[in-house]
Amino acid sequence: MNAFVIGHPIAHSRSPLIHGHWLREHGIAGAYRRIDVPPGELADFVSGFARQGYVGGNVTVPHKEKAFELASRRTARAERLGAVNVLKALPGGEVWGDNTDGVGFADSIGEAIGPGWEREVSVAVVVGAGGAARAIVGALLDLGIPRVRIANRTPGRAADLVRFDPARVEPIGWDELPLAVEGADLLVNTTTLGMKGQPALDLALDRLPEGAVVADAVYVPLETPLLEAAKRRGLRTVGGLGMLLHQAVPAFESWFGVRPRVTPELRSLIEADVEAGR
Ligand SMILES: NC(=O)c1ccc[n+]([C@@H]2O[C@H](COP(=O)([O-])OP(=O)(O)OC[C@H]3O[C@@H](n4cnc5c(N)ncnc54)[C@H](OP(=O)(O)O)[C@@H]3O)[C@@H](O)[C@H]2O)c1
Repeated sequence: MNAFVIGHPIAHSRSPLIHGHWLREHGIAGAYRRIDVPPGELADFVSGFARQGYVGGNVTVPHKEKAFELASRRTARAERLGAVNVLKALPGGEVWGDNTDGVGFADSIGEAIGPGWEREVSVAVVVGAGGAARAIVGALLDLGIPRVRIANRTPGRAADLVRFDPARVEPIGWDELPLAVEGADLLVNTTTLGMKGQPALDLALDRLPEGAVVADAVYVPLETPLLEAAKRRGLRTVGGLGMLLHQAVPAFESWFGVRPRVTPELRSLIEADVEAGR
């Protein structure tokens, strides 16, 4: 039983480390391979992977939206996002697509803060409105968070997310962000700001309540300047690595029928890889 991760480029994907670890842990005779698929070859790849002996695989940049269109069956959460990060071959030649990024985010907060964390959150502020933001906003709504404010540099993309739930999603201007964090129980950065080689997200955190949680989707570096600033203020923080690890759990389960665990050993393995700068 083999699985893949496809993207273009794909050399930097850490998914082979994660799934390779679980394949060994569960004694599954199979391989998880990194495959560079240029955009022009995506349709042929998706229609032909089962014949090449793959049970399914992950999809990453820039293929998540196109792969969504190519999947003939899709989960409701993938439908809402219009993007898949998981494909699986179904009997009869159909291809099923799912999006596990949102649930990966939710589970990573649960791991860090504890079960039931969502009951502590009345207002969440999401910074950014790209692919990661869409998945995270969807997950927050699924968890019943009453109010989700979204600020994005390009305002139209934040406004577009209102369609997820007009009663609970509120787009806010980029300049309003410093005021909008007032009273927020959860602040999530989903932009590329804070990534290695990028400027930090420049946002004062003094208006956040004492019990607030600050999360970042970015995991290179493992601790972004935003998280460092939140820690200095004594706030609870959650880095992006947990989201990466937890989005992989339901994917692995869908292909191999075993639900793997995010263990300290797995986390250390990936942390070491990130710190080595690969
Ligand atoms: N932890 C995980 O498992 C996981 C999963 C997915 C993504 N991520 C991380 O999340 C981040 C975003 O990924 P994505 O897939 O959502 O990317 P994306 O779809 O390209 O979205 C990028 C977002 O960053 C904003 N942005 C970029 N440069 C900016 C700047 N200079 N100032 C303000 N905003 C800026 C964009 O705003 P505009 O709309 O104005 O361009 C947009 O909201 C990346 O760091 C990625 O590695 C992590």
